[in-house]
Amino acid sequence: MSFSLTGFVQSARSAAAETRPVAAVRTLMSQTFADPQAIAKAVGSSISEDEILYEDDEVSIYWVRFAPHELVPPHNHRMHAFLGVYEGTEVNLLYRQAESGQLELAKRRVLNPGDTMSIGGDGIHAVHTEDAMPSLGFHIYLGRLSTVSRDLFDAETGRSMPFTDENYQLLLRPLV
Ligand SMILES: [Fe+2]
Repeated sequence: MSFSLTGFVQSARSAAAETRPVAAVRTLMSQTFADPQAIAKAVGSSISEDEILYEDDEVSIYWVRFAPHELVPPHNHRMHAFLGVYEGTEVNLLYRQAESGQLELAKRRVLNPGDTMSIGGDGIHAVHTEDAMPSLGFHIYLGRLSTVSRDLFDAETGRSMPFTDENYQLLLRPLV
């Protein structure tokens, strides 16, 4: 199977426009990531930070890189999110909010090259890589992620705050 960024963006836009977009995007992600080596061969690992490949009110398509030794703070997306990894290993920590407001770890999902997962609109996750290598992948969101009002959380206290660059840096932790 061959892979191209433009083809992936087109397919993602089509899937997001289907009558059942969640199922359609999930299928697209598992088909696309079934051959992670084809993706790596086509696009390599030249990405140094997240890149928005396409975004409108219906769908956002991101090329993503998680740096090693960093714990990306818990956050939500306020829309369905679909994650796929083609290089490196990414650990997703999925949280639920207790009535006290505290975050409780609900699930730990390890994504190796070829693996995909989806997160519902209210889902909260934190992310780190498994080892000293970055993880590379694509994310699809069913909405315009860059401007939606969403939240970051302090993992220790559960306190939420608006998702801004400043708060993100404040909550970013070295992975120990
Ligand atoms: Fe996320």
